[in-house]
Amino acid sequence: MPEAIDGDMNLMAGVAGRLRAAGCVFAEEEARWLVEAAPDPDRLAGMVEQRVAGLPLEHIVGWAQFCGRRVAVDPGVFIPRRRTELLVRRAAALACTGTSIVDLCCGSGAVGVAVAALVPGVRLYAADVDPAAVRCAERNLAPLGGRVYRGDLYGALPAALRGGIQVLAANVPYVPSGAVDLMPREARLHEPRVALDGGPDGLDQVRRVAAGAGEWLVPGGHVLVETGEDQAAAAAELFGAAGLSPTVESDEDLGATAIVGRM
Ligand SMILES: C[S@@+](CC[C@H](N)C(=O)[O-])C[C@H]1O[C@@H](n2cnc3c(N)ncnc32)[C@H](O)[C@@H]1O
Repeated sequence: MPEAIDGDMNLMAGVAGRLRAAGCVFAEEEARWLVEAAPDPDRLAGMVEQRVAGLPLEHIVGWAQFCGRRVAVDPGVFIPRRRTELLVRRAAALACTGTSIVDLCCGSGAVGVAVAALVPGVRLYAADVDPAAVRCAERNLAPLGGRVYRGDLYGALPAALRGGIQVLAANVPYVPSGAVDLMPREARLHEPRVALDGGPDGLDQVRRVAAGAGEWLVPGGHVLVETGEDQAAAAAELFGAAGLSPTVESDEDLGATAIVGRM
């Protein structure tokens, strides 16, 4: 075996061993990410220590794998979850070239990036209340010609979009306030509360998204949100009360639930 490859494998095995000893379940895979991302051995050692201390892997290497793509994720920005692929697939199925699509509560902009990859030529807009998320989403969306705005839900969007959105995908925070402290440590400590806490029943932002949809969607346009399985019926009811025709979608493999509403 060539010396360089042999050395790489020893390095990888050493990192994996350190991570495994610290309790990382996917030590080999994480070691590969870290070795690949580190520019030099000193940085690698620092990154391994960060991981051992509990920082999310994605925040250390600066990107997450989402829908088969790498999405930049800065420290303090919500890490896209695999289950959100359901929201992406349903949004993409409703879009075609030229569709105006908004990724509301965009975080890193992962949903918008993934939809644009599936449906080239969409007109992509995104918004978030958190300045760190907006900066991160700008980096991810700029190469796709997407525009990112900062502000509170619809209040962030340019007035020109009012009544003109065809697909609005909003992965809003939906964890009930009382359950945030029960979330895994990585989320509790390293993702901002504003990205997680959905109010007493978890549906505060779903309620607001549904209530505003009529003003922002084209007639026949769609709004999609992700929820917990146990929140789906209440969320669908909120959609109905706002004049949307709701459908509950789920994917058992992803452990995902989404509500799709047609205006
Ligand atoms: C669950 S994260 C989803 C991020 C991203 N869409 C994803 O799936 O990876 C929710 C995001 O909503 C943003 N957010 C929370 N409240 C908001 C509000 N009132 N207006 C706009 N964005 C909000 C948070 O900053 C966070 O980035």
